[in-house]
Amino acid sequence: MAGLTIIGAQFGDEGKGKIVDYLASKSDVIVRFNGGNNAGHTVKIGKTTYKQNLLPSGVFQKNKRNLISSGVVINPKVLISEIETLRLLGIAISPKNLGIDLRAHLIMPWHILLEGSENSKKIGTTQRGIGPCYEDKAARTGLRFEDLILEDSLTLKIKNEYERKLRLLQFSSAIIPSEFSFASILSEYLAYSKILKGYATDVSSELHSFQSKKKKILFEGAQGTFLDNNFGTYPFVTSSNCICASAAVSAGVPPSFISSSQGVVKAYTSRVGNGIFPTELHDEIGEKLRTKGAEFGTTTGRARRIGWLDLPMLRSAIKLNGFDGIHITKLDVLAGLSEIKVATHYKIGKKTITEFPAYSQDLKTAVPVYESFKGFEDQDWKKVAKDGKTKKLSALPKNAIDYINFIKRELNVAISSVSVGPERDEIIFLG
Ligand code: IMP
Repeated sequence: MAGLTIIGAQFGDEGKGKIVDYLASKSDVIVRFNGGNNAGHTVKIGKTTYKQNLLPSGVFQKNKRNLISSGVVINPKVLISEIETLRLLGIAISPKNLGIDLRAHLIMPWHILLEGSENSKKIGTTQRGIGPCYEDKAARTGLRFEDLILEDSLTLKIKNEYERKLRLLQFSSAIIPSEFSFASILSEYLAYSKILKGYATDVSSELHSFQSKKKKILFEGAQGTFLDNNFGTYPFVTSSNCICASAAVSAGVPPSFISSSQGVVKAYTSRVGNGIFPTELHDEIGEKLRTKGAEFGTTTGRARRIGWLDLPMLRSAIKLNGFDGIHITKLDVLAGLSEIKVATHYKIGKKTITEFPAYSQDLKTAVPVYESFKGFEDQDWKKVAKDGKTKKLSALPKNAIDYINFIKRELNVAISSVSVGPERDEIIFLG
């Protein structure tokens, strides 16, 4: 049992990219298990910033097997362009280091058009066709990665589905661009098939074989716990399951395969898109954190909403994912504030609630109750991280240590690392 999951504990964008990059260096196999190109991972290596949406984070390192499992939805155009971008940066992707499950679903042009004409605007989705693709998966009308292998079957499936979707688009009075024709979609996907079919694999079978060879497997989650389709702030969620257990479902391995689960927690909270956000800040502090933390979506460029750290949310995330450690990111972004607040619990009427309520009506009326901390000054964070190699937490300013220790005590969870800057080495590992 050598499987580790790494999961966002909040609403996504917790700064997972950098942590996954580190954990990938300690793993042999990296599996991306949910979502699609709605996700955006940023990794800064040296002077280069890599932004990617689909590829597992192990692609930056040599001799790793990267896998995309069945629960991911794949836009072939985006995948090919990501592979090409990395190639230009000197990182070679080939079927040797990347495999894609035969069962993963394909995002088709109609998914993107259908999303534009749905109530997705109310939710504030990324408009990448993610929801409509998962809808087709559940309706059993979707195309899968395996359909790229045989030209005849790909042609037939596109033909059938194109006709159905055209009727649907006409019925929903969506704007249908002139290039939306069977012939052009077919020629586009036949071209993708030539480039991508060599990557097709059975991820489940590969993982069982890796496990028998005692290889270390990292399951990399996209989005975050409260965007999970079951446990997030429904309907303001994504269409896949983001929590730890879904790694096993998507990858085709038993739950016992996962021996450890770690969470990534931003030192404050952010959310992109609509939906409830109990600790949201609507003042100049929120504005300051957004600017300092460069809180704009990797995928869509949208400004992220900002709020204080929310412990009820994190207590629930720990239960849902079974975290045995959390990585706190972007602590440096809080520097310079005179006061830092943390929501320790909620009040619903006279009741005190210490976890994220399941009943959405309760969530709507929940009032966060805050504990206040003294701020800390900006530092030479590179030096702090360097000192942290030997001095660990005590390399941080005193008020920052108080903040971290408070979180640890309240959540009763190990702090695996504290990240103090965007670069690979701006991190203090504690466990
Ligand atoms: P969808 O995943 O595009 O359907 O969008 C559903 C909701 O999830 C919207 O609020 C999006 O902004 C949000 N979302 C999707 N992917 C991410 C992500 O990787 N980080 C943060 N929010 C995301």
